[in-house]
Amino acid sequence: MTTPDSFRLNGKLIPFSAGQTIMDAALTAGVYIPHLCHHPEFVPHGSCRICVVCADGRELCACTTPAVAGMQVESDSDDIRALRVALLQMLFVEGNHVCPGCEKSGACQLQAVAYYCGMLDLHFHSFFPYREVDASHPDAILDRNRCILCELCVRASRDHDGKSVFAISGRGMQSRLIVNSPSGRLGDSLFSGSDRAAQVCPVGAILPRRGAFQVPIGERLYDRETIADAGGPAADDRG
Ligand code: SF4
Ligand code: FES
Repeated sequence: MTTPDSFRLNGKLIPFSAGQTIMDAALTAGVYIPHLCHHPEFVPHGSCRICVVCADGRELCACTTPAVAGMQVESDSDDIRALRVALLQMLFVEGNHVCPGCEKSGACQLQAVAYYCGMLDLHFHSFFPYREVDASHPDAILDRNRCILCELCVRASRDHDGKSVFAISGRGMQSRLIVNSPSGRLGDSLFSGSDRAAQVCPVGAILPRRGAFQVPIGERLYDRETIADAGGPAADDRG
């Protein structure tokens, strides 16, 4: 039985309040649904699709779908897990993610979600796209090779910092993160290392300078616990 303000997620009763999405209600109830572009501080974006669930027989994104009383949601069925792994594999081959050589390894949400979901290989051929690295800013390096186009930096810079430093340009495989400055380089923009946008990247695409390897690989957040145990959404601010 569900109540007027509850639904079932993997058989468990989840209460919700008006306006909450499936993701909001699940996280409030302490149930982790894998996600990458979702962050509780920012409006949902619904781009990575990693939060896919089956809600009353339909595959939907938990981060953008409003909770409805009585709905039956599955986030952990064999089909949903297989779909999520395929989406992760596509994210990996679309960019250049070289985890063993990445400063973000062990604190990267893409890597941590892939571990959590049991992704064992790339499955697809890697695209090896050419992506620009921008090392023009004194506070951070922008390495587009690792960008998953989640737009968290876009939302943080626009909605929190009030600067709109970042945007996504192009479509499909031509999509890329661009910087709002006369030269298109980060060093000529309003970006600062103290911006919220400098802290929200779930992968190693926006890397703060002067902090590399302060926490050794092997001792980082997701080296110590899974992304589900770490609390998922807030984990991006912790190394
Ligand atoms: Fe997302 Fe990071 Fe790319 Fe910005 S730089 S869109 S936060 S992956
Ligand atoms: Fe829901 Fe990315 S977390 S689409």
